[in-house]
Amino acid sequence: MNITSEELRDKYLKFFEKKGHKIIPSASLIPENDPTVLFTTAGMQPLVPYLLGQKHPDGTRLANAQKCIRTGDIEEVGDDTHLTFFEMLGNWSLGDYGKEEAIKFSFEFITKELRIPLERFAVSCFAGDADAPKDDESAKIWESLGIRKERIAFLSKEDNWWGPAGKTGPCGPDTEMFYWKNNSEQAPEIFDPKNKNWVEIWNDVFMQYEKTAEGKIVDAEQENIDTGMGLERTLAVLNGKENVYQTDLFVPITSKVRELAGIVCLQDKPCSLDRKRSIRIVSDHIKAASF
Ligand code: ALA
Repeated sequence: MNITSEELRDKYLKFFEKKGHKIIPSASLIPENDPTVLFTTAGMQPLVPYLLGQKHPDGTRLANAQKCIRTGDIEEVGDDTHLTFFEMLGNWSLGDYGKEEAIKFSFEFITKELRIPLERFAVSCFAGDADAPKDDESAKIWESLGIRKERIAFLSKEDNWWGPAGKTGPCGPDTEMFYWKNNSEQAPEIFDPKNKNWVEIWNDVFMQYEKTAEGKIVDAEQENIDTGMGLERTLAVLNGKENVYQTDLFVPITSKVRELAGIVCLQDKPCSLDRKRSIRIVSDHIKAASF
């Protein structure tokens, strides 16, 4: 598929608008009234009061493209998928629809709008622990949609739990969606999340819990859905690109960085991996600092 960043953003927002979501603007990268974080790290962050039960003026179904900064990922910048600044496409249910509808929306968008074939698709679900049970319910919903058991992995909190964004707030188990990015090798029958060819593109979080200042996980007043799709990653894989730096969101920046640094990378005389990584890091940091 050939798709630009603008088209992908647009497709996502239009899809959720049709499903009754109100499109809200991206909030500032500097959080307002949230002392728990320095920057906005996810689309849900400006929505914390509403995830905790306050009424949102635009209703109970929202969607947007949120600018995010994740300083926690800084050491990984320069690989194929991590960035400090990125855009997150997200849809939310504030006590409105639940797990089943959320997963069905994701599945419809992935298969009908993005036309991702099931051979290249896999998911992970929460394996369960003392805080919350194994998420068999999500796995069953995925299976009912045609995802084979072999393509569903159950993982621990480290991978399949999201939040809170700061020290306290809404959190819960999640189900993550992966795309097989290797164009020269078919995806294996059995999903191995450790295989780097599987790129996580979307995360549906079931925000049923709240972490308290004492570090306890308690039931939330309201059950919410919080999802996040990485715009740069999804754009890269859909266009058959190896990494996020080859997308239209980065090519003009990396080209300028190379030009200013006097670095020429040719097909028969490619740049060293160190050089490539440096160009990527400088590009990412300039973009993050600018925003
Ligand atoms: N808040 C969730 C995330 O950032 C969707 O992955």
